[in-house]
Amino acid sequence: MEILIVGAGIAGLSTSIALSHALKNVASCQPLKIIVLESASALAEIGAGVQMTPQAIKNFFAWGMKDDLLSSSAIPTSMNVRHGPSGDIIGKIPIGDLEQDYQAPYLVVHRAVLHSILHSHALKAGVEVRTNSRVTEYGFETATVTLADGTTRTADLIIAADGINSLARKQFLGPDDPGALPTGWAAFRMICSADAIKADASVAPLLEGYGSNLWIDHNVSCMTYLIKDSTMLNIVLSHRDDVETQDWTPEYHKTYVDGLFKEFDPRVKKLIDMAVPKIVNYPVYAVPPLKKWIHDSGRFVLLGDATHAMAFYLSMGVSLAVDDAASLGEALRLALSEPDVVQTKEGKYARMKKALHVFEQVRIPRASSIQAASLHAGGILHMPPGPDRELRDEGLRHCDQYWPVEPACEDERRDFERVRSCMYGIADKRTRDWCYGYDSADAIRGVWRSQ
Ligand SMILES: *[C@@H]1O[C@H](CO)[C@@H](O)[C@H](O)[C@H]1NC(C)=O
Repeated sequence: MEILIVGAGIAGLSTSIALSHALKNVASCQPLKIIVLESASALAEIGAGVQMTPQAIKNFFAWGMKDDLLSSSAIPTSMNVRHGPSGDIIGKIPIGDLEQDYQAPYLVVHRAVLHSILHSHALKAGVEVRTNSRVTEYGFETATVTLADGTTRTADLIIAADGINSLARKQFLGPDDPGALPTGWAAFRMICSADAIKADASVAPLLEGYGSNLWIDHNVSCMTYLIKDSTMLNIVLSHRDDVETQDWTPEYHKTYVDGLFKEFDPRVKKLIDMAVPKIVNYPVYAVPPLKKWIHDSGRFVLLGDATHAMAFYLSMGVSLAVDDAASLGEALRLALSEPDVVQTKEGKYARMKKALHVFEQVRIPRASSIQAASLHAGGILHMPPGPDRELRDEGLRHCDQYWPVEPACEDERRDFERVRSCMYGIADKRTRDWCYGYDSADAIRGVWRSQ
């Protein structure tokens, strides 16, 4: 069995590890060869911290990455949600306690560090990672790829995890490819030295519990957390995506950001002043829900950001790709280890087709509901003053419990739903259960049995 994975980002490497684990004892897949094709000449990840949620971390742990991950990441004690102008804490989301409920912690890890851990575990699992291998064309029917140098390669299965601007998606969906679309939000990002913050008594206390703070107000917010072995504070300033910043000088970026946050807690302004002088604006794009992720041949599947890139207000973007990987592994394991698995290629492809169908049936609705919840959370975070915002803040004050309490009778259901609709994403315990209590393999098995 040969599987080609296109893209050596977090999604592609996670998938290679998931499949190695899922298929290693499946007789009909032996010998198992998994090759990851990366277009770049070297593996490198840029970017800052990524937030990883418990249900994804649970998979990483199951794949043997526990020690490496824990020794190079941070578990914030709580995320302090603060009123933007005053800086007063509205609620403390108990991030550090999540392991009790979900059997794995919520972690913050530098993207490059996570990437290198994944790379070494992929190699350890026997995966071959090839750089300088840019795919220019896909043969969906025959599981063939053509590389930039003109060579072609045919496998049993092709998995494209080639990111938000996916070429595979473009060729697969043709005119039906919606592309990545603006979400209406953007973020100015910058980093600040933790030592500099520690040396200033007015802001030093903000680093307690790994510095996870979130100041919120109408249309703007400031999120901070420590990265790079706690040597740097990552600062993410969300705002409406209504300015074109391409031609801005660094000075003008600063002037604009100062204007946006002029009413904020003076400590936020101080952090911005102390940050390394480079401020970059990133409009936030999302891929709208796609009609299909798999080809009818049963030999091509698209996953990761290529299918569901989304706004970051639920911190689920990267974790969702890990769920994809675990789900695909379980679907293929079930299909290919059935006792009567047919030994001909055609027989196996028919099984794979069934596996991919189950995968798609589980993942499309799951990913699109998480995407919608993420965008909703962005809206809630940046609400204007008013009664809805008071409901949100009441929810933030109760974020360690199921809030609002279950309605006692049907008549109260509407009020209950109204309050729920104003709750902020991960501050809502029911949303946390829905996001982090999710077991990818279980969801696949449930649909598998019903087929
Ligand atoms: C908030 O954003 C909306 C949508 O872009 C805009 O219409 C409104 O004027 C903004 N309000 C403030 C106070 O920034």
